[in-house]
Amino acid sequence: MNLEYLSGFGNEFASEALPGALPVGQNSPQKAPYGLYTELFSGTAFTMPRSEARRTWLYRIQPSANHPAFVKLERQLAGGALGAVTPNRLRWNPLDISGEPTDFIDGLARMVANAASEHPAGISIYNYRANRSMQRVFFNADGELLIVPEQGRLRIATELGVLEVAPLEIVVLPRGLKFRVELLDAQARGYVAENHGAPLRLPDLGPIGSNGLANPRDFLTPVARYEDLKQPTTLVQKFLGELWACELDHSPLNVVAWHGNNVPYKYDLRRFNTIGTVSFDHPDPSIFTVLTSPTSVHGLANLDFVIFPPRWMVAENTFRPPWFHRNLMNEYMGLIQGAYDAKAEGFLPGGASLHSCMSAHGPDGETCTKAINVELAPHKIDNTMAFMFETSQVLRPTQFALECAQLQTTYDACWASLPATFNPNRR
Ligand SMILES: [Fe+2]
Repeated sequence: MNLEYLSGFGNEFASEALPGALPVGQNSPQKAPYGLYTELFSGTAFTMPRSEARRTWLYRIQPSANHPAFVKLERQLAGGALGAVTPNRLRWNPLDISGEPTDFIDGLARMVANAASEHPAGISIYNYRANRSMQRVFFNADGELLIVPEQGRLRIATELGVLEVAPLEIVVLPRGLKFRVELLDAQARGYVAENHGAPLRLPDLGPIGSNGLANPRDFLTPVARYEDLKQPTTLVQKFLGELWACELDHSPLNVVAWHGNNVPYKYDLRRFNTIGTVSFDHPDPSIFTVLTSPTSVHGLANLDFVIFPPRWMVAENTFRPPWFHRNLMNEYMGLIQGAYDAKAEGFLPGGASLHSCMSAHGPDGETCTKAINVELAPHKIDNTMAFMFETSQVLRPTQFALECAQLQTTYDACWASLPATFNPNRR
Protein backbone atom coordinates (compact mmCIF):
# COMPACT_ATOMS: atom_id res chain seq x y z
CA MET A 1 0.00 0.00 0.00
CA ASN A 2 1.26 3.45 -0.85
CA LEU A 3 0.99 5.59 2.24
CA GLU A 4 0.87 9.36 2.22
CA TYR A 5 3.16 11.36 4.47
CA LEU A 6 3.72 14.97 5.49
CA SER A 7 7.31 16.13 5.19
CA GLY A 8 9.24 18.22 7.73
CA PHE A 9 10.43 18.26 11.33
CA GLY A 10 8.72 20.04 14.21
CA ASN A 11 6.16 21.63 11.91
CA GLU A 12 2.62 22.56 12.84
CA PHE A 13 1.03 19.89 10.64
CA ALA A 14 -2.66 19.55 9.83
CA SER A 15 -4.46 16.55 8.35
CA GLU A 16 -8.05 15.39 7.89
CA ALA A 17 -9.40 12.05 6.66
CA LEU A 18 -12.80 13.58 5.86
CA PRO A 19 -13.16 16.92 4.08
CA GLY A 20 -13.85 19.73 6.51
CA ALA A 21 -13.30 17.59 9.63
CA LEU A 22 -10.74 20.05 10.93
CA PRO A 23 -12.33 23.14 12.52
CA VAL A 24 -11.12 26.38 11.00
CA GLY A 25 -10.12 29.41 13.06
CA GLN A 26 -10.52 27.81 16.47
CA ASN A 27 -9.53 24.60 18.25
CA SER A 28 -12.56 23.64 20.28
CA PRO A 29 -15.89 24.68 18.73
CA GLN A 30 -19.15 23.98 20.59
CA LYS A 31 -19.90 21.29 18.01
CA ALA A 32 -16.98 19.89 16.03
CA PRO A 33 -17.65 18.84 12.40
CA TYR A 34 -19.21 15.39 11.83
CA GLY A 35 -20.13 15.16 15.54
CA LEU A 36 -16.52 14.51 16.49
CA TYR A 37 -15.12 15.06 19.98
CA THR A 38 -12.23 17.45 20.52
CA GLU A 39 -9.25 16.32 22.62
CA LEU A 40 -5.90 17.96 23.35
CA PHE A 41 -2.86 15.66 23.31
CA SER A 42 0.02 17.41 25.11
CA GLY A 43 3.57 16.08 25.04
CA THR A 44 5.01 18.90 27.15
CA ALA A 45 3.77 21.04 30.03
CA PHE A 46 1.40 23.80 28.89
CA THR A 47 3.83 26.43 30.05
CA MET A 48 6.95 25.32 28.16
CA PRO A 49 8.53 27.96 25.92
CA ARG A 50 6.97 27.97 22.47
CA SER A 51 10.14 26.48 20.95
CA GLU A 52 9.84 23.45 23.26
CA ALA A 53 6.07 22.99 23.31
CA ARG A 54 4.58 19.87 21.69
CA ARG A 55 0.84 19.45 21.42
CA THR A 56 -1.73 18.22 18.93
CA TRP A 57 -5.48 18.81 18.72
CA LEU A 58 -7.43 15.62 17.94
CA TYR A 59 -10.93 15.34 16.45
CA ARG A 60 -12.14 11.84 17.22
CA ILE A 61 -15.16 9.56 17.24
CA GLN A 62 -14.88 8.90 20.99
CA PRO A 63 -12.66 10.81 23.42
CA SER A 64 -9.89 8.80 25.09
CA ALA A 65 -11.60 9.40 28.44
CA ASN A 66 -14.22 6.80 27.53
CA HIS A 67 -12.56 3.74 29.04
CA PRO A 68 -13.07 1.51 32.09
CA ALA A 69 -10.44 1.08 34.83
CA PHE A 70 -7.04 -0.33 33.85
CA VAL A 71 -6.08 -3.61 35.50
CA LYS A 72 -2.46 -4.66 35.96
CA LEU A 73 -1.49 -7.40 33.52
CA GLU A 74 -0.18 -10.69 34.77
CA ARG A 75 2.37 -10.88 31.97
CA GLN A 76 4.78 -7.97 32.43
CA LEU A 77 7.66 -6.90 30.21
CA ALA A 78 10.74 -9.05 29.97
CA GLY A 79 13.77 -7.45 31.53
CA GLY A 80 12.18 -6.36 34.74
CA ALA A 81 14.26 -4.95 37.55
CA LEU A 82 17.71 -3.50 37.20
CA GLY A 83 20.51 -5.87 38.12
CA ALA A 84 23.80 -5.42 39.92
CA VAL A 85 25.86 -2.36 39.08
CA THR A 86 28.88 -3.17 36.93
CA PRO A 87 31.60 -0.97 35.44
CA ASN A 88 32.46 -3.73 32.96
CA ARG A 89 32.16 -3.55 29.21
CA LEU A 90 29.32 -5.81 28.12
CA ARG A 91 28.32 -7.27 24.78
CA TRP A 92 25.36 -9.38 23.74
CA ASN A 93 24.63 -11.68 20.82
CA PRO A 94 21.27 -11.08 19.15
CA LEU A 95 18.26 -12.25 21.15
CA ASP A 96 16.42 -15.27 19.67
CA ILE A 97 12.98 -14.82 18.21
CA SER A 98 10.80 -17.26 20.11
CA GLY A 99 8.54 -19.79 18.36
CA GLU A 100 5.73 -18.88 20.77
CA PRO A 101 3.22 -16.30 19.52
CA THR A 102 4.88 -13.01 20.45
CA ASP A 103 3.63 -9.55 19.58
CA PHE A 104 5.60 -6.31 19.87
CA ILE A 105 4.68 -5.84 23.55
CA ASP A 106 5.38 -9.46 24.52
CA GLY A 107 8.71 -9.26 22.72
CA LEU A 108 10.05 -6.13 24.38
CA ALA A 109 13.00 -6.96 26.66
CA ARG A 110 14.41 -4.18 28.78
CA MET A 111 18.21 -4.36 28.56
CA VAL A 112 19.52 -1.25 30.34
CA ALA A 113 18.17 1.90 31.96
CA ASN A 114 19.54 4.92 33.76
CA ALA A 115 16.48 6.26 35.53
CA ALA A 116 13.12 5.06 36.74
CA SER A 117 10.27 6.03 34.47
CA GLU A 118 8.93 8.73 36.78
CA HIS A 119 12.09 10.80 36.44
CA PRO A 120 11.77 13.65 33.96
CA ALA A 121 15.05 12.64 32.30
CA GLY A 122 16.89 9.44 31.50
CA ILE A 123 16.34 6.59 29.09
CA SER A 124 15.52 2.89 29.04
CA ILE A 125 16.68 0.67 26.20
CA TYR A 126 14.87 -2.41 24.97
CA ASN A 127 15.48 -5.02 22.33
CA TYR A 128 12.32 -6.31 20.66
CA ARG A 129 11.47 -9.43 18.73
CA ALA A 130 8.05 -10.43 17.43
CA ASN A 131 6.44 -13.03 15.20
CA ARG A 132 2.89 -11.77 15.01
CA SER A 133 0.97 -8.54 14.71
CA MET A 134 -0.52 -6.90 17.77
CA GLN A 135 -4.24 -7.56 18.14
CA ARG A 136 -4.31 -4.92 20.87
CA VAL A 137 -3.44 -1.23 21.05
CA PHE A 138 -0.66 0.17 23.22
CA PHE A 139 0.52 3.48 24.60
CA ASN A 140 3.54 4.32 26.70
CA ALA A 141 2.97 6.84 29.50
CA ASP A 142 6.66 6.63 30.42
CA GLY A 143 8.26 8.31 27.45
CA GLU A 144 8.75 8.80 23.76
CA LEU A 145 9.76 5.69 21.79
CA LEU A 146 12.52 5.60 19.18
CA ILE A 147 12.21 2.30 17.30
CA VAL A 148 15.15 1.01 15.25
CA PRO A 149 14.16 -2.08 13.21
CA GLU A 150 16.93 -4.57 12.45
CA GLN A 151 14.80 -7.31 10.85
CA GLY A 152 11.31 -7.24 9.40
CA ARG A 153 9.10 -4.43 8.15
CA LEU A 154 6.52 -2.92 10.47
CA ARG A 155 3.18 -1.27 9.79
CA ILE A 156 2.45 1.00 12.73
CA ALA A 157 -1.16 2.16 12.92
CA THR A 158 -1.30 5.18 15.24
CA GLU A 159 -3.96 7.61 16.36
CA LEU A 160 -2.59 10.12 13.85
CA GLY A 161 -2.23 7.75 10.89
CA VAL A 162 -0.25 4.82 9.56
CA LEU A 163 3.51 4.54 9.08
CA GLU A 164 5.41 1.72 7.44
CA VAL A 165 9.04 1.25 8.38
CA ALA A 166 11.72 -1.18 7.27
CA PRO A 167 15.22 -1.87 8.55
CA LEU A 168 17.43 1.18 7.82
CA GLU A 169 14.48 3.39 8.73
CA ILE A 170 13.55 4.55 12.23
CA VAL A 171 10.30 5.72 13.75
CA VAL A 172 9.62 7.98 16.73
CA LEU A 173 6.32 7.77 18.63
CA PRO A 174 5.46 10.54 21.09
CA ARG A 175 4.82 9.70 24.73
CA GLY A 176 1.23 8.54 25.18
CA LEU A 177 0.40 8.07 21.48
CA LYS A 178 -1.77 4.99 20.95
CA PHE A 179 -0.54 2.56 18.33
CA ARG A 180 -0.65 -1.01 17.04
CA VAL A 181 2.43 -2.66 15.55
CA GLU A 182 1.66 -5.08 12.70
CA LEU A 183 4.28 -7.28 11.06
CA LEU A 184 4.68 -7.13 7.29
CA ASP A 185 7.15 -10.03 7.38
CA ALA A 186 7.14 -13.33 9.28
CA GLN A 187 9.20 -11.92 12.10
CA ALA A 188 10.67 -8.69 13.37
CA ARG A 189 13.54 -7.68 15.61
CA GLY A 190 15.20 -4.44 16.60
CA TYR A 191 15.91 -1.89 19.27
CA VAL A 192 13.88 0.70 21.18
CA ALA A 193 15.11 3.71 23.12
CA GLU A 194 12.51 5.00 25.56
CA ASN A 195 13.21 8.65 26.21
CA HIS A 196 11.87 9.91 29.54
CA GLY A 197 13.38 13.36 28.99
CA ALA A 198 12.94 16.24 26.57
CA PRO A 199 11.55 15.11 23.20
CA LEU A 200 14.03 14.29 20.46
CA ARG A 201 14.87 17.01 17.98
CA LEU A 202 17.45 17.72 15.29
CA PRO A 203 20.85 18.80 16.62
CA ASP A 204 22.06 22.34 16.00
CA LEU A 205 24.55 22.49 13.14
CA GLY A 206 26.93 25.21 14.35
CA PRO A 207 29.73 25.87 11.85
CA ILE A 208 28.41 23.10 9.57
CA GLY A 209 25.87 25.66 8.41
CA SER A 210 22.24 25.44 7.43
CA ASN A 211 22.33 22.03 5.73
CA GLY A 212 23.66 18.59 6.46
CA LEU A 213 23.33 15.58 8.75
CA ALA A 214 19.60 14.71 8.86
CA ASN A 215 17.68 17.26 6.81
CA PRO A 216 14.22 18.27 8.09
CA ARG A 217 12.32 17.50 4.90
CA ASP A 218 13.28 13.82 5.08
CA PHE A 219 11.23 13.30 8.25
CA LEU A 220 7.79 11.91 7.41
CA THR A 221 4.62 12.15 9.49
CA PRO A 222 1.50 10.15 8.56
CA VAL A 223 -1.76 11.68 7.40
CA ALA A 224 -5.00 11.24 9.34
CA ARG A 225 -6.62 7.81 9.06
CA TYR A 226 -9.27 6.43 11.40
CA GLU A 227 -10.90 3.15 12.35
CA ASP A 228 -14.64 3.35 12.98
CA LEU A 229 -14.77 -0.12 14.50
CA LYS A 230 -17.22 -1.14 17.20
CA GLN A 231 -15.34 -4.24 18.26
CA PRO A 232 -13.79 -5.29 21.55
CA THR A 233 -10.25 -3.93 21.73
CA THR A 234 -7.70 -4.33 24.50
CA LEU A 235 -5.88 -1.10 25.29
CA VAL A 236 -2.56 -1.64 27.08
CA GLN A 237 -0.50 1.07 28.67
CA LYS A 238 2.92 1.08 30.26
CA PHE A 239 2.86 3.23 33.37
CA LEU A 240 5.97 3.53 35.57
CA GLY A 241 7.37 0.44 33.90
CA GLU A 242 4.34 -1.78 34.46
CA LEU A 243 1.74 -2.97 31.96
CA TRP A 244 -1.93 -2.25 32.60
CA ALA A 245 -4.91 -3.00 30.33
CA CYS A 246 -8.58 -2.23 29.86
CA GLU A 247 -11.22 -3.47 27.42
CA LEU A 248 -12.83 -1.00 25.03
CA ASP A 249 -15.85 -1.64 22.83
CA HIS A 250 -14.31 0.34 19.97
CA SER A 251 -10.98 0.99 18.29
CA PRO A 252 -9.10 3.84 19.99
CA LEU A 253 -7.41 4.63 16.66
CA ASN A 254 -10.43 6.78 15.84
CA VAL A 255 -8.99 10.24 15.14
CA VAL A 256 -10.55 11.66 11.98
CA ALA A 257 -8.60 14.92 11.85
CA TRP A 258 -5.77 16.56 13.78
CA HIS A 259 -3.38 19.49 13.80
CA GLY A 260 -0.26 20.11 15.85
CA ASN A 261 3.40 19.25 16.29
CA ASN A 262 3.20 16.35 18.78
CA VAL A 263 3.32 13.73 16.07
CA PRO A 264 4.91 10.41 15.11
CA TYR A 265 7.49 10.45 12.35
CA LYS A 266 9.85 8.21 10.44
CA TYR A 267 13.22 8.76 8.83
CA ASP A 268 15.30 6.79 6.34
CA LEU A 269 18.85 6.55 7.69
CA ARG A 270 20.17 6.28 4.11
CA ARG A 271 19.22 9.92 3.66
CA PHE A 272 21.65 11.03 6.37
CA ASN A 273 24.18 13.45 4.89
CA THR A 274 27.30 11.99 6.43
CA ILE A 275 30.05 14.52 7.07
CA GLY A 276 33.67 13.72 7.86
CA THR A 277 37.25 14.81 7.44
CA VAL A 278 38.81 15.60 4.06
CA SER A 279 42.27 16.16 5.54
CA PHE A 280 43.47 14.17 8.58
CA ASP A 281 42.12 12.70 11.83
CA HIS A 282 38.41 12.28 12.14
CA PRO A 283 35.81 14.32 13.99
CA ASP A 284 34.15 13.15 17.19
CA PRO A 285 31.27 10.74 16.53
CA SER A 286 28.82 13.49 17.48
CA ILE A 287 29.20 14.52 13.82
CA PHE A 288 26.92 11.52 13.11
CA THR A 289 24.07 12.63 15.41
CA VAL A 290 20.63 12.13 13.85
CA LEU A 291 18.46 13.22 16.78
CA THR A 292 19.12 14.53 20.26
CA SER A 293 17.26 14.97 23.53
CA PRO A 294 18.97 17.74 25.51
CA THR A 295 19.31 18.07 29.28
CA SER A 296 19.17 21.37 31.15
CA VAL A 297 22.98 21.51 30.86
CA HIS A 298 23.79 23.08 27.51
CA GLY A 299 25.57 20.56 25.26
CA LEU A 300 24.94 17.56 27.53
CA ALA A 301 22.51 15.08 25.98
CA ASN A 302 19.94 13.00 27.75
CA LEU A 303 19.92 10.90 24.57
CA ASP A 304 21.86 11.19 21.35
CA PHE A 305 20.91 8.87 18.51
CA VAL A 306 24.08 8.51 16.46
CA ILE A 307 24.64 6.37 13.36
CA PHE A 308 27.70 4.99 11.61
CA PRO A 309 26.55 4.82 7.99
CA PRO A 310 28.41 3.87 4.81
CA ARG A 311 31.04 6.54 4.11
CA TRP A 312 34.31 7.25 2.39
CA MET A 313 37.49 7.17 4.45
CA VAL A 314 40.09 9.51 2.97
CA ALA A 315 42.04 10.87 5.95
CA GLU A 316 45.80 11.06 5.32
CA ASN A 317 48.34 9.75 7.83
CA THR A 318 45.52 8.84 10.18
CA PHE A 319 44.51 5.93 12.37
CA ARG A 320 41.17 5.51 10.68
CA PRO A 321 39.05 3.29 12.97
CA PRO A 322 37.31 4.95 15.91
CA TRP A 323 40.14 5.90 18.26
CA PHE A 324 40.64 4.35 21.67
CA HIS A 325 38.76 6.43 24.16
CA ARG A 326 37.24 6.85 27.57
CA ASN A 327 34.18 8.97 27.80
CA LEU A 328 31.92 10.74 30.23
CA MET A 329 28.96 9.56 28.21
CA ASN A 330 27.47 6.06 28.28
CA GLU A 331 27.16 4.21 25.01
CA TYR A 332 24.73 1.45 24.05
CA MET A 333 25.50 0.32 20.52
CA GLY A 334 23.57 -1.82 18.07
CA LEU A 335 24.05 -3.01 14.51
CA ILE A 336 21.37 -2.95 11.83
CA GLN A 337 23.34 -4.50 9.01
CA GLY A 338 26.84 -5.50 7.90
CA ALA A 339 29.83 -5.03 10.18
CA TYR A 340 31.06 -2.18 12.36
CA ASP A 341 34.47 -0.79 11.46
CA ALA A 342 35.90 -0.98 15.00
CA LYS A 343 35.29 -4.69 15.47
CA ALA A 344 36.49 -7.64 13.37
CA GLU A 345 34.04 -10.07 14.95
CA GLY A 346 31.62 -10.61 17.82
CA PHE A 347 29.38 -7.60 17.20
CA LEU A 348 26.49 -8.94 15.15
CA PRO A 349 23.37 -7.43 13.57
CA GLY A 350 20.75 -7.52 16.32
CA GLY A 351 23.44 -7.70 19.00
CA ALA A 352 24.47 -4.90 21.34
CA SER A 353 27.29 -3.55 23.45
CA LEU A 354 27.45 -1.32 26.51
CA HIS A 355 30.38 0.95 27.33
CA SER A 356 29.68 2.90 30.49
CA CYS A 357 31.15 6.13 31.80
CA MET A 358 34.98 6.02 31.70
CA SER A 359 35.12 2.43 30.47
CA ALA A 360 37.99 2.17 28.00
CA HIS A 361 37.16 0.91 24.53
CA GLY A 362 38.04 1.15 20.87
CA PRO A 363 38.99 -1.11 18.01
CA ASP A 364 39.77 -4.72 18.79
CA GLY A 365 43.23 -6.23 18.31
CA GLU A 366 42.69 -7.46 14.77
CA THR A 367 41.18 -4.16 13.56
CA CYS A 368 43.91 -2.14 15.24
CA THR A 369 46.77 -4.20 13.79
CA LYS A 370 45.31 -3.87 10.31
CA ALA A 371 44.76 -0.11 10.70
CA ILE A 372 48.34 0.57 11.79
CA ASN A 373 49.86 -1.38 8.91
CA VAL A 374 47.50 -0.76 6.00
CA GLU A 375 48.63 1.36 3.07
CA LEU A 376 46.26 4.31 3.23
CA ALA A 377 44.12 5.01 0.20
CA PRO A 378 40.59 6.33 -0.14
CA HIS A 379 38.20 3.48 0.55
CA LYS A 380 34.52 3.18 1.21
CA ILE A 381 33.06 1.50 4.26
CA ASP A 382 29.97 0.00 2.69
CA ASN A 383 27.07 -2.27 3.60
CA THR A 384 27.01 -1.19 7.23
CA MET A 385 24.74 0.64 9.64
CA ALA A 386 25.73 0.66 13.28
CA PHE A 387 24.17 3.07 15.74
CA MET A 388 24.57 4.31 19.28
CA PHE A 389 22.16 5.43 21.97
CA GLU A 390 24.40 7.73 23.99
CA THR A 391 23.38 9.21 27.32
CA SER A 392 24.91 11.29 30.08
CA GLN A 393 23.82 9.09 32.99
CA VAL A 394 25.17 5.61 33.70
CA LEU A 395 23.11 2.81 32.16
CA ARG A 396 22.48 -0.12 34.44
CA PRO A 397 21.77 -3.52 32.89
CA THR A 398 18.64 -5.38 33.91
CA GLN A 399 18.79 -8.78 35.56
CA PHE A 400 17.61 -10.21 32.26
CA ALA A 401 20.51 -8.59 30.39
CA LEU A 402 23.03 -9.88 32.92
CA GLU A 403 21.65 -13.41 33.05
CA CYS A 404 20.59 -14.10 29.46
CA ALA A 405 22.51 -16.67 27.44
CA GLN A 406 23.34 -14.01 24.84
CA LEU A 407 25.66 -12.10 27.18
CA GLN A 408 29.20 -12.72 25.94
CA THR A 409 31.57 -13.83 28.67
CA THR A 410 34.80 -13.11 26.79
CA TYR A 411 34.26 -9.59 25.46
CA ASP A 412 37.34 -8.17 27.21
CA ALA A 413 39.53 -10.62 25.29
CA CYS A 414 39.03 -8.73 22.03
CA TRP A 415 41.49 -6.11 23.32
CA ALA A 416 43.95 -8.63 24.79
CA SER A 417 45.42 -9.31 21.35
CA LEU A 418 46.51 -5.69 20.81
CA PRO A 419 50.09 -5.91 19.53
CA ALA A 420 52.97 -4.67 21.72
CA THR A 421 54.46 -2.08 19.38
CA PHE A 422 56.44 0.16 21.77
CA ASN A 423 60.17 0.30 21.10
CA PRO A 424 62.15 3.06 22.92
CA ASN A 425 64.98 2.68 20.38
CA ARG A 426 62.91 3.26 17.26
CA ARG A 427 61.00 6.46 16.82
FE1 LIG B 1 32.71 4.96 22.34
